[in-house]
Amino acid sequence: MDRTRFEYLIEDGVLERVIAEEEVSSTNDVAKSLSRDGFSGRALIISELQTAGRGRLGRNWSSPAGTGIWMSLLDTEIEHLENISGITLLAGLAVTETINDYMGTDRARIKWPNDVVINGRKVCGILTELVSSGDKGSVIVGIGINASISEFPEELRDKATSLLIEMGSAPDREKIASEVVRRLTELTSVYRTSGSLSFIQDRYQSLMVNREKEVILSSANGDFFDNPYIAKGIDEEGNLIVLDKAGKLHAVRSGEISVRGMLGYV
Ligand code: BTN
Repeated sequence: MDRTRFEYLIEDGVLERVIAEEEVSSTNDVAKSLSRDGFSGRALIISELQTAGRGRLGRNWSSPAGTGIWMSLLDTEIEHLENISGITLLAGLAVTETINDYMGTDRARIKWPNDVVINGRKVCGILTELVSSGDKGSVIVGIGINASISEFPEELRDKATSLLIEMGSAPDREKIASEVVRRLTELTSVYRTSGSLSFIQDRYQSLMVNREKEVILSSANGDFFDNPYIAKGIDEEGNLIVLDKAGKLHAVRSGEISVRGMLGYV
């Protein structure tokens, strides 16, 4: 990847450091080491290939060379650790809006809290991690966008997609990556000042793939609820608001509950 474009982000005051590599284990791991080594500020770590890309829930994240945007944004200036789940939602919004602007459509949608889907298939996953010391900490937002993957293995074919598959041509990865970084930095800075997600509530809700649709909730320990619910939107803390069969609203916290559609992933 042409690293000059990313260095503009330093000149523009968006970032303090850029690490652009051909190969790393996981960009989130590089970000973690940077934070532990005492780096302070915002850094972008981006790589052509990840040999041990990680997804949520301990899963692998396939990150073949040159076909994706595999990157992490490290921000060491997080004062309130409870803001982490909000930052995760902002990342999903930044990616979705960037993809829609790039494609000139509104086909990219958000599956709460932060998967980005096109045509009911996942095009981007986000893994947010925390490195904390006392009540201060660093947040690492790891973003994986399937850019020019032309074919997925059989078992993923109806669950995953790429920008190439959706647009018919390979996207400009540098352009999309730098735009996501700019937007996420701007959104995070407003959020820091306001302490609430109310400034993105309307935008986020209008992009939700399952708004006003029936969803199935499940928790990590296997507890099921009174499914299905209707997804209504998000509140100002980023919780998913769902309506139960009795007409009662509930706020569901991200990180604790998984959501899927009636027929599968969306
Ligand atoms: C998910 O399970 O949906 C989250 C996937 C996150 C993948 C990205 S790729 C860049 C960064 N480095 C990693 O190892 N994971 C994240």
